[in-house]
Amino acid sequence: MVCLGNICRSPLAEGILKSKVDPNKVYVDSAGTGGYHIGNPPDPRSIKVASKYGIDISDQICRKIRPEDLDDFDIIYAMDKSNYNNILRLSNSTHHGNKVKLLLNEIDGTEKEVPDPYYDSINGFENVFDLINEACSAIAKKLE
Ligand code: 4NP
Repeated sequence: MVCLGNICRSPLAEGILKSKVDPNKVYVDSAGTGGYHIGNPPDPRSIKVASKYGIDISDQICRKIRPEDLDDFDIIYAMDKSNYNNILRLSNSTHHGNKVKLLLNEIDGTEKEVPDPYYDSINGFENVFDLINEACSAIAKKLE
């Protein structure tokens, strides 16, 4: 799960997908394409919205995506097109490129984006939670 800062959207996506899959079968992680918040916990607003739905993301630690992630992971979900393009720039390989997907494509196959809530109110985080939750339900169902 990849966004820009790895403090708002992708930590939520990591926590939500983890809550829907068997941890012995599916390894879920998140990262950011930017390095502004490396080592920090998720944004307090993401922690708050997740906890409202019984998901604890407070122990996650921000990291930046590495080119090796394209080898290590089978699927890489980008929250928006800008991050999608930045992930693709990490490798020239078609094999790697084929692993990168827009998260909300999992809902209905359209090119929708998870909006960046960083400068938004808590309502923006609620909206982001709902969008990611719907996509993660579709992913979990597919993985089953
Ligand atoms: P995220 O949100 O990509 O969902 O983690 C952001 C967090 C921080 C910044 C931008 C977006 N920032 O510019 O610091």
